[in-house]
Amino acid sequence: MTAHIVLLPGDGIGPEVTAAARLVLEAADARFDLGLSFVEHDFGGIAIDRNGDPFPADTRIACEAADAILLGAVGGPKWDGGDLRPEAGLLGLRKALGTFANLRPIALFEGLEHLSPLKPDRAAGIDLLIVRELTGGIYFGQRREGDDHAADECAYSAEEVERVARIAFIAARGRSGRLTSVDKANVLATSRLWRTTVIRLHEAEFGDVTLDHMLVDAMAMKLIEAPAWFDVILTENMFGDILSDEASVLAGSIGLAPSASLGKGPRGLYEPIHGSAPDIAGQDKANPIGAIMSAAMLLRHSLDKGAAADAIEEAVRAHLADGARTADLGGEMGTMATAEGVAGRV
Ligand code: NAD
Ligand code: IPM
Ligand code: MN
Repeated sequence: MTAHIVLLPGDGIGPEVTAAARLVLEAADARFDLGLSFVEHDFGGIAIDRNGDPFPADTRIACEAADAILLGAVGGPKWDGGDLRPEAGLLGLRKALGTFANLRPIALFEGLEHLSPLKPDRAAGIDLLIVRELTGGIYFGQRREGDDHAADECAYSAEEVERVARIAFIAARGRSGRLTSVDKANVLATSRLWRTTVIRLHEAEFGDVTLDHMLVDAMAMKLIEAPAWFDVILTENMFGDILSDEASVLAGSIGLAPSASLGKGPRGLYEPIHGSAPDIAGQDKANPIGAIMSAAMLLRHSLDKGAAADAIEEAVRAHLADGARTADLGGEMGTMATAEGVAGRV
């Protein structure tokens, strides 16, 4: 059986980290006989340049027919301020695929503890999973943009909250059994709906999971103060965006952090959490490990190939344990050499 993977390399370092992840997937395919097939499509800024649309129709059709999609990153100064934005394509893709739950695991790698900006005793034991709502909230509300007035609506339905909360509860059950739900219920109506919906689902179906609630400002502080205390963190779209960048740095670099965006079926969208990093694009400097770990998540969640996913994650750990580092980790190894190192270990 063939597994159809659509690659959306995108902009900036996107093509570099996507090529790296593909190399590692091909190594896993050679070892585990996964039957992977790859096809690339324009997406983001490059798609604006070539097609006048960040999310062209043929890209959409290919993604809807795929088993999984691996995305690099989109955006960059070239398109800032234009009428068409690469980032709008990304929101359109997430919405079109219905990938409402974005899983962002962040853990310390052995040997990289010293790269955390936290003192060793505070960084020790960081191993958390952020479950970010991805297709609702302020990203998708009504927008009004004028010269002297602008508004972004933040809206959630109970159903939107419940479906992503269910994924977070199930994830917590498979980990330490603890879930922290993050909101701003002291101010926002959407947050009060969020909290009551999470509490209702907890009482109805997940009494075995320990649930607590935290306001997002306190969470931003606690993540620095005691990150190892947290296990699964559930939050809405924009809070999840911000907290996950913050959390990624606690483990050394945003270049290490992967993500999986899931909806109803097995098809998923996989992307490192970082952006197009225009400051280092085209220099073979980008850390591809976030993209490579995203590829491992793709195998596990969309293709049910857990052993191959484990092999990639193990190869990444072995590669890093050998002292091989990209510039963001204080080393000199390039993007493709990193990919070759990991692929060789797979
Ligand atoms: P960024 O994540 O691109 O970069 C932030 C910093 O982290 C930069 O110093 C960059 O060099 C570094 N960095 C990021 N990824 C790295 C990697 N793999 N290896 C080493 N260093 C890495 O964030 P930004 O600069 O705020 O955004 C740049 C552009 O990317 C913007 O247009 C933004 O909209 C877009 N963006 C896209 C995505 C996505 O496609 N999913 C995500 C975030 C930002
Ligand atoms: C991310 C990015 C995107 C987001 C942008 C580029 C739209 O920051 O994937 O984290 O905010 O979701
Ligand atoms: Mn982000």
